[in-house]
Amino acid sequence: MSKELFDNVRALIEEIERAQPTTPEELEQFRIRYLGSKNVLKPLMGQIRHIPNEQKREYGRLVNQAKQLAERKYQELKEVVARAAEAAEGQDLDLTAPGEPLEQGAIHPLSTTLNRIVRIFERIGFTVAEEREIEDDWHNFTAMNTPEDHPARDMQDTYYLRDVPGMLLRTHTSSVQARVMTRQQPPIRIIAPGRVYRNETISARAHCQFHQVEGLYVDEGVSFADLKQTLLYFARQMFGPRVRIRMRPSYFPFTEPSAEMDVSCFICDAKGCNICKYTGWVEILGCGMVDPQVLENCGIDPTRYTGYAFGMGIERQAMLLYGINDIRLFFENDVRFLRQFRAAF
Ligand code: PHE
Repeated sequence: MSKELFDNVRALIEEIERAQPTTPEELEQFRIRYLGSKNVLKPLMGQIRHIPNEQKREYGRLVNQAKQLAERKYQELKEVVARAAEAAEGQDLDLTAPGEPLEQGAIHPLSTTLNRIVRIFERIGFTVAEEREIEDDWHNFTAMNTPEDHPARDMQDTYYLRDVPGMLLRTHTSSVQARVMTRQQPPIRIIAPGRVYRNETISARAHCQFHQVEGLYVDEGVSFADLKQTLLYFARQMFGPRVRIRMRPSYFPFTEPSAEMDVSCFICDAKGCNICKYTGWVEILGCGMVDPQVLENCGIDPTRYTGYAFGMGIERQAMLLYGINDIRLFFENDVRFLRQFRAAF
């Protein structure tokens, strides 16, 4: 009886030695058979009670030897099998198979809108001037003829830098006018796209950060007619050849006279819709003749030169062009929103 049990264990050891699992599946079979929770060694160990006492030690050692052998072999083969499986996978590689589709990105609708505006003005001789977003009080306000007590300077609207007196986040791209005019004499013909900041309550229609494109043309004999023709050209390029413009008198500290410009609603063809609030017109920009005081402030001779300037918001135009009804979508980077612009250019 006891000899038979010994033989069983020895046979098992031989079996383990002979086993040659080569695939991950075979290896797993091996593990289950010799090392799993219901492995074949367990019942053999149970049989120890039929072994005479003086042989129990040897029997136990033999079963243990089988167990250790299985363990060692499993650890060794694990690596070999994994490497073999990897290599086999490489051999299955079909180099002629079409590639995995790549997730295609999209250009942000604000970039698309901004690029379009810039290209329209570049075609008629404007060059791009980009400037800092952290500005000083002088370039953002003082040079632009904005008096100390002007509401635009109010702490409520402007983000001032807490630790650097006199520095702020620019509230409009008009600060670039001052930057360029203090650096360069006319003729000046620039557009300045960029981000601006105002301390506004965030809602579907307003945000504390948004984008503008500033335009500035200073030379001898620049007139309001030049401004109007330039903006009409822009409106038609941007919104279509049927678009009309109208100018309403307005006020900005840095232009005189000043105007706000509307374009005829290109959504409803000026028939009246909820975008234009049934007026047939949508406001897109502020403009005017550069105030002689601003030229003077920046070191340009106002008796010799005149100029016009305009500033337009980008978000509003992008919202109109793409039918976006919430300005916050531009800044949330939700891919479900951005993905919709894959085809836009
Ligand atoms: N800076 C003005 C604004 O932010 C726009 C503007 C620019 C008006 C240039 C006139 C001339 O609203």
